[in-house]
Amino acid sequence: MAFSSQHGGNIIEAAAAIGVEADLLIDFSANINPLGMPDSLKRAIVENLTLAERYPDVEYRALHQALAKHHQVPLEWVLAGNGETELIFNLVQQLSPRKALLLTPGFAEYRRALARIGCEVTDFHLSEAQGWQPDESFLQALTPDVDCLFLCTPNNPTGLLLDKKLLLAIAHRCRENHIALIVDEAFLDFLPDEPGLIPHLSHFPQLYILRSLTKFFAIAGLRLGYLVSADSKTVGHIREQREPWTINAFAALAGEVILNDCGYIEASYHWLSTEQPRLFNGLNGLRGIKVWPPSANYIFMRCDVDGLDLQRRLLEENILIRHCANYPGLDARYYRVAIKSSADNDKLLDALQRVLSNTDGAGE
Ligand SMILES: Cc1ncc(COP(=O)(O)O)c(C=O)c1O
Repeated sequence: MAFSSQHGGNIIEAAAAIGVEADLLIDFSANINPLGMPDSLKRAIVENLTLAERYPDVEYRALHQALAKHHQVPLEWVLAGNGETELIFNLVQQLSPRKALLLTPGFAEYRRALARIGCEVTDFHLSEAQGWQPDESFLQALTPDVDCLFLCTPNNPTGLLLDKKLLLAIAHRCRENHIALIVDEAFLDFLPDEPGLIPHLSHFPQLYILRSLTKFFAIAGLRLGYLVSADSKTVGHIREQREPWTINAFAALAGEVILNDCGYIEASYHWLSTEQPRLFNGLNGLRGIKVWPPSANYIFMRCDVDGLDLQRRLLEENILIRHCANYPGLDARYYRVAIKSSADNDKLLDALQRVLSNTDGAGE
C-alpha cells in the first residue's frame, strides 16, 4: 500500500510507516530547492530576532512594496499571504464562484478551497495520450456558465509548462465569458526566462496570478506567497477581510530580502541547469520507467512494473518519493520526484536501479 499523504513532504508519516527516524529519509516528495534557505535571509533573521517580540505591520507595507517593485506593478495589485495556499482559499472565498473548472491531474488545494464554499466543480481530464496537455479544444469548455478556472503552469504533478499561445487564448476566452482565471505560477521562478502572465495583467481584469516563494527559496516552513491581479477591488476586499498578521515577521522580512539575492538566484539556475537533464536522463534510462521532460524542479514518471509499489520499496531504501495515486485522473503507476543535489539524485538513481533489477517484468 502506498502511504496516503495528500501532499509531498510528509516525512514524519512516511518514517513512521517503516519505523525509522524521519531524519534518515531523503525527501524527494516535496519540491524544495536543495540549496536551502538563502544565506542573506539567515543573516537577516539572526540580526532581526527581536522582530518576534512585536506584531508585524498589519499592512505589511515594506513587503508589499518589495513585491510590487519586483514585478513593476501597482502596489494595490499585490497581496502577500502565509504561503500561496492561504491565498488560494482567500481568493476562492472572495470570488465565490458557483461553478468552477479544474484540470486533472492538478494540485489538490483548489478543489478543497472550492469544496469549502460549496462550489460545483467540473473536471477537464488531461490524458496521457495527449501528453497531459490541453489543446485548442479546451477553449470549448470555457462557456459562460463557468465562473472560475484554475490553471497551474508548470503543472503539478506533470511538471509541464502550458503553451503560451494557448494560455493567452484561454485568457481571452475567459475575459469574453467573464470567467475568473486563476493561474498558479508556484514553480515559475525555476524557469529563468519565463515571466509568466504578470506582464499581461493590465489586459485581463479577471486574471489572478498566484506565486509561491516557499519552493524556489526553500522557505516552506517559514511560508510566503502572493497574489497579483489588476482587479484591485477584489485584492482590496481580501486585504480588508482576512485575519490580521497571518504572515509572521520573519516571512515578511524574507520577502524584502530574498528577491534581491542575485547570487542565490543564479546559483539555483546553475544547479537546475545541470541536475535537471542529468536526473531526467538517468530516470529515462531505467527499464520500466517512463518520464516526462520537466520544466521546473520535479519530474513526473510512470512505473510499468506490474504490482510494484515503488514508493514503498524506495522507502525501504530511506528515500521518499511522491506517489500520485490520489490525484484525480491518475493511478498507482504514477509518481513525482523532486530534483535535488547531485549526491542525492545519484542515491535515488542507485536505489531505483536496485529496486528495478530485483523485479521481473521491468521494461514491458
Ligand atoms: C502547484 C502548487 N501551488 C501552490 C502550492 C502551495 O505553496 P505554498 O507553500 O506557498 O503554500 C504548492 C505546494 O506544493 C503547489 O504544488
